[in-house]
Amino acid sequence: MQRLAVQIEVKGAFKQVGEIVGTSSDDARFTYTESYLKDPESRAVSISMPLEQQSFSVESTRNFFEGLLPEGFTRRCVAEWLHRDEKDYLAILAGLGQECLGAIKIIDESRAVLPSKYKELTSEEVKKLAQEGATESAEMVTKSHLSLTGASGKVGLYYDEQKDKWYLPIGEAPSTHIVKQSHIRLKRIVANEQLCLLTAKNLGIEIPQSFIIKTESNEAEDVLFATKRYDRRMQSNGRKLNGMNIPYRLHQEDFSQALGIPASEKYEKDGGSYLSKMFGILRDYSASPIEDQLKLWDICVFNFLIGNTDNHIKNLSLLYGKDLKTIRLAPAYDIVSTMVYESSTENMALSIGGDYSIRKITEESFAKEATKAGLGVKMAMKRLDTLRKNFVEALNTGAQVLEEQGFEGTKDIAEQIMSCGGIRNYI
Ligand SMILES: Nc1ncnc2c1ncn2[C@@H]1O[C@H](COP(=O)(O)OP(=O)(O)OP(=O)(O)O)[C@@H](O)[C@H]1O
Ligand SMILES: [Mg+2]
Repeated sequence: MQRLAVQIEVKGAFKQVGEIVGTSSDDARFTYTESYLKDPESRAVSISMPLEQQSFSVESTRNFFEGLLPEGFTRRCVAEWLHRDEKDYLAILAGLGQECLGAIKIIDESRAVLPSKYKELTSEEVKKLAQEGATESAEMVTKSHLSLTGASGKVGLYYDEQKDKWYLPIGEAPSTHIVKQSHIRLKRIVANEQLCLLTAKNLGIEIPQSFIIKTESNEAEDVLFATKRYDRRMQSNGRKLNGMNIPYRLHQEDFSQALGIPASEKYEKDGGSYLSKMFGILRDYSASPIEDQLKLWDICVFNFLIGNTDNHIKNLSLLYGKDLKTIRLAPAYDIVSTMVYESSTENMALSIGGDYSIRKITEESFAKEATKAGLGVKMAMKRLDTLRKNFVEALNTGAQVLEEQGFEGTKDIAEQIMSCGGIRNYI
């Protein structure tokens, strides 16, 4: 019988939430502890798992907790490093869950927890991370017991801005940044992601701070993409570890977890209507439902204009307040123009008014979607109009900034976006 304790950080301190118990991943079920249920300050850790006494089903348990793990090649590498079966999500979670996305921590009481500390990375090690593939980052996350979702090679690191130094968090030490690898994925993907995020920012879309880490040169094989974690907050006079300030954790869950949809179904299939379900969640649970629905709308329109067809439901999240009592739409992240790559699908991960193909989506599709999502159509279409009118300038300004920073070729990416993103319908 396997037993994993689930804890959550609330206002800077960990609280026992519940347990996952089972003989394997095939029958494991999550239950909130009685003391957590009795505490009037407690809140559900997921919209898909409301506070209740009985154990959740095997599927609900899997959908939420497996949703904390890396996917694809990275998951395979991590399973190998841990000597575990790639399909056994519980075993991988037991090995990795000490620092996850959001504020949850998973503890396997039968194992010793590594003492928390930060290990300084030399510039050689950062360069190696850029130059080597996802196997290297998977080794790092396994050693540091850290779980990040998504398919690309990435690590959670601590960054000391003043010293410009990177550290690997070990044990339960929190990371401050997510650092993604580059050339092993798609050509100039780091510049592509940074350009998309700068363009989004120029259009008034909320994004986390991000930057490109240059190691030896500005070439794709020597750069990494760093994004500051919006689910980690530094506080003055906060806790310290090794003399370094450490952030507190804010909880987050992605829409796949919130909707109770398995990560394997993160791309919508016919009739899934994921978008209107997401708008429904914001209407019912957001502390600022109107503002968040408009933000989600703008992100959807932006993904279409920039040609990001990888806009699946794990690429949009909900961010909880420090006491878990408020829920807001998280800033936009993982926005890449996939359409600039020949291998990209033309089908968006979420249908717009019933249409998937970026080539077929029209203003009418958006108007249909707005009606279905319960938004005022006139207002939604006015926002679309404003975004598309300001798009070209926002894109060119972003490209200019990156070219000035020495990332030659960013203007070419911008040109490609103009010819293959949804924006091309308007020029
Ligand atoms: N700045 C951030 N702060 C906090 N969490 C973040 C941030 N950026 C990304 N995340 C979380 O980390 C996860 C992985 O990041 P991201 O989506 O960028 O990786 P990816 O491997 O490119 O994903 P995919 O598999 O969709 O290609 C996201 O799903 C999101 O929950
Ligand atoms: Mg992603």
